[in-house]
Amino acid sequence: MPTVAQQLTDLVRQAAESAGHGDAPIPLEPCVPTNDPRHGDYQSNFAFRLGKALRTNPRAVAQTLVSALPPNDLVASTEVAGPGFINFRLSDTFLAAELVACASDARLGTPLDGAGRTLVIDYSSPNIAKRMHVGHMRSTIIGNALDRLYRFLGWEVIADNHLGDWGTQFGKLIVGWRNWLDEEVFEKDPIGELQRVYIAFGQRAAEDPELKAQARAETARLQAGDPENFALWQRFTEESVREFERVYERLGVRFDVALGESFYRDGLRDLVSRLLDEGVAERDQGAAVIRFGAEDGEDLEKAPLLIQKSDGAALYGTTDLATVLHRMETWNPDRIVYVTDVRQRLHFRQLFAASRKLGIEVELFHVWFGMLRFADGTVMATRKLEGGQGSGPRSVNLVDVLNMAVARAREVVDAKSSELPEKERAEIAEAVGVGAVRYSDLSQNPQTDVLFDWDKMLALEGNTAPYLMYGFARVKSIFRKSGVDVFEPGEVVLGEPIERELALAVLRTPEVILAAAATYRPNLLSDHLFQVANTFARFYHDCRVLHEDSGVRQSRLSLAFSAARTLEVGLGLLGIRALSRM
Ligand code: ARG
Repeated sequence: MPTVAQQLTDLVRQAAESAGHGDAPIPLEPCVPTNDPRHGDYQSNFAFRLGKALRTNPRAVAQTLVSALPPNDLVASTEVAGPGFINFRLSDTFLAAELVACASDARLGTPLDGAGRTLVIDYSSPNIAKRMHVGHMRSTIIGNALDRLYRFLGWEVIADNHLGDWGTQFGKLIVGWRNWLDEEVFEKDPIGELQRVYIAFGQRAAEDPELKAQARAETARLQAGDPENFALWQRFTEESVREFERVYERLGVRFDVALGESFYRDGLRDLVSRLLDEGVAERDQGAAVIRFGAEDGEDLEKAPLLIQKSDGAALYGTTDLATVLHRMETWNPDRIVYVTDVRQRLHFRQLFAASRKLGIEVELFHVWFGMLRFADGTVMATRKLEGGQGSGPRSVNLVDVLNMAVARAREVVDAKSSELPEKERAEIAEAVGVGAVRYSDLSQNPQTDVLFDWDKMLALEGNTAPYLMYGFARVKSIFRKSGVDVFEPGEVVLGEPIERELALAVLRTPEVILAAAATYRPNLLSDHLFQVANTFARFYHDCRVLHEDSGVRQSRLSLAFSAARTLEVGLGLLGIRALSRM
């Protein structure tokens, strides 16, 4: 069903048509909630913009639109405000009826906005034989939330884990493996040991150029299909993927495909030749590059994409071009989205510009995010990658991070709910701990550096996973006490202002879901859930529910039910399990 904002916007559209503004020079602007409830529930800025565009008085345009509004049961009153804004107050009967419809639907009435469209989303994409760095952790969590949001909106989603499983690092690893591997440690902690060996290589090769030559030779042998090296490469990959899988499983992340860089390795040479033939790429001192023009941005003009080194080796960008082509051939998507940290912005701008030059028609988006910092500088198991210095990414043992969060959550659960059986407490702690890690990331604007703070993210108060999860369980307990097994929402009367406020908040959920997906900002949804949980808490504090007469009781239970459903659906979209009992 259409959202409240969409229904209102449609009224404005009809008003504009009957007032003779049917072919306005600017697009119809969607209605949005007002910032201040004293000015009504929703507002339209369309008349203001239209007035400006037509060089007439926007207030007069607003008046005309208000007078031309068709008869409807949505709007209780309107007001033209400021330089030409229209404020709407919605009717209580409309809100009540909408709320019942929304609460009765498992999708909260969210429109299937993406039906018929296909999205390929590329996220997580860690590198073999290396521990994920915090950038991969964020990519996994943010990417998965977007994956869920788009699926929920009806898009056909293909989640692809573009593993870094090919490249010159394998020659170094092979040399390191043969010389310095500790088999016993490898058995216990394969990625840790591979990473150690890799770092050891870097340190020794700095003094011993002979090692570098060896590594190059091993890489070449691997690329030529040498069985021994190939078997080693497979082993590195399998062990690494096994560890990644353990993390994905706990985070509730699953991919439709995991076509890593190695999948494209055989086609790269031909691709480069083709691009040279077609004139998309050109030779530059033996290398091959794709040059960009002014239309791609001034800075790109000076930053061609290197697709082949003078020794014939392909690069990250070459693989990415092959990947775009493969995705187009296989799924013919409407949109491809990449989720990585901010440091890859230039890379994706180059890739997208190169794709345009190739005539590929698809919407391409790079969802980039800032770095994640640990408030507690000593957080275990984070290690500067490759011995670098400065503020580079840290490698993090995600399994340890999750275990730590779960152990801390367990302390809280034990203290708060000691009456629950041990097995259930363990389950709650797992959901809360993992949920807290996810939520602490998803509740902050992706495009900022975010802080990873154990105490804050596990707090029972504030904008945290535990707060929302407990909020949900609290509503559920009301229903357990109500004695009704299967509750059917119905007959809502919005008597108290706080009831109306709760209804409005719940009804905004589909709008927020649409906005969070469209702007790639899951934190819009977490902010909203926090607001719904707070509004519910005030409602429950001010209004009796179970001890009221049947009419009021049914109405208030319906409101409570709609809040629970909002939290359940919303947390689910963030990949967090809402438990009925905690
Ligand atoms: N493996 C890359 C890295 O760790 C991320 C890959 C992102 N996806 C892509 N298609 N380039 O930096």
